[in-house]
Amino acid sequence: MSINQPVSRQKSESKDTPRRALITGITGQDGAYLAEFLLEMGYEVHGMVRRSSTESFDRIEHIHGHIELHQADLLDQLSIITLISDVRPHEVYNLAAQSFVPTSWLQPLLTGEFTGLGVTRVLEAIRLVDTGIRFYQASSSEMFGAVDEEPQTEATPFYPRSPYGVAKVYGHWITVNYRESYDIFACSGMLFNHESPRRGKEFVTRKVSDAVARIKLGVQDSLSLGNLDAARDWGYAGDYVRAMWLMLQQDKPSDYVIATGEKHTVRDLVELAFNHVGLDWQKYVCTDPKLLRPAEVNKLRGDATKARNELGWRPEVDFPSLVRMMVDADLERVEREINEQKL
Ligand code: NAP
Ligand code: GDD
Repeated sequence: MSINQPVSRQKSESKDTPRRALITGITGQDGAYLAEFLLEMGYEVHGMVRRSSTESFDRIEHIHGHIELHQADLLDQLSIITLISDVRPHEVYNLAAQSFVPTSWLQPLLTGEFTGLGVTRVLEAIRLVDTGIRFYQASSSEMFGAVDEEPQTEATPFYPRSPYGVAKVYGHWITVNYRESYDIFACSGMLFNHESPRRGKEFVTRKVSDAVARIKLGVQDSLSLGNLDAARDWGYAGDYVRAMWLMLQQDKPSDYVIATGEKHTVRDLVELAFNHVGLDWQKYVCTDPKLLRPAEVNKLRGDATKARNELGWRPEVDFPSLVRMMVDADLERVEREINEQKL
């Protein structure tokens, strides 16, 4: 896929000029769904990608030719300023981050740089180029961490339990701060876990759906997991990117919890996924203490009443449908790979 060289854009616009959106993290799960959604809404979609020795554009391969990619990095302030002044987006969606919680204990400083300070770098670029650009920050339910209150709302106090969660709290507050200090239309979406067939295989839902498909098709024997009692409020990524866009279409910027309001354990997830292909999970799943986290969070369940009332948002895919969707997609992919003799 080609990456654009910097070109300065005409600043004059007519009423027919399409809305321009810039997505950081466009190669990730949410970036791919959001890019598709914005294209359907008639947007001109630009994506920021970082340099890598191998391209990892699989999730956006199917919209190649409809989006424009630009090289920049959350660690490099000047590259972000240049990108935003070249593209002159109406809306910036900051989805890029080191997003895997266990990695944040292995690389706490890098996580702070990407996931925390990276937000300030994007906001600084907006402040310097054009404070009229609307900004969405991908905040997280991990900010609530070891919370007392359940379910969590926009008013629930934060108690993050991982370097990732701590970095996201910084990203959240710097977003609020730039809104209040510079009058930037900046919103923080406090999103609970959301999954899809495009989810990275290190996250538990996809690890399970991939393993179920491989076990069913005879190319894997067992599945090792960590804490089976851990519980999450899991929704579908396709529903959640709609909420991001809705936040930036309001008259006033604000922060919103986005969640299903239901909590399920990893054990529920495993049982549903194995049952879907007619297998008894207890014959295949073992637990490995190495996969336990130094600190766990147990009470994450969101109350999205504000989003429902102000944005008209509600999730459309329920948990059992999500699990079946992910297992079916992995069954199809693993079968194809077996037929192509890749496995
Ligand atoms: P993801 O699949 O891990 O994608 C992360 C994206 O960030 C990738 O495109 C990655 O690019 C990019 N990135 C990482 N470091 C970068 C850097 N230094 N410069 C430029 N790009 C960089 O994550 P996701 O699930 O789509 O989540 C999107 C955002 O929402 C993240 O900020 C995440 O923390 C947050 N969030 C996610 C959830 C969830 O349940 N999915 C819930 C709450 C919040 P490469 O392809 O080059 O690695
Ligand atoms: N990854 C993983 N692998 N998790 C496991 C495993 C395993 O083998 N076994 C049990 N779990 C449990 C974890 O301990 C955790 O409690 C839960 O499954 C979910 O883990 P992940 O899927 O890795 O997601 P996460 O909740 O840590 O983080 C995701 O959601 C956040 C929103 O709350 C990420 O997408 C974050 O970027 C996001 O902010």
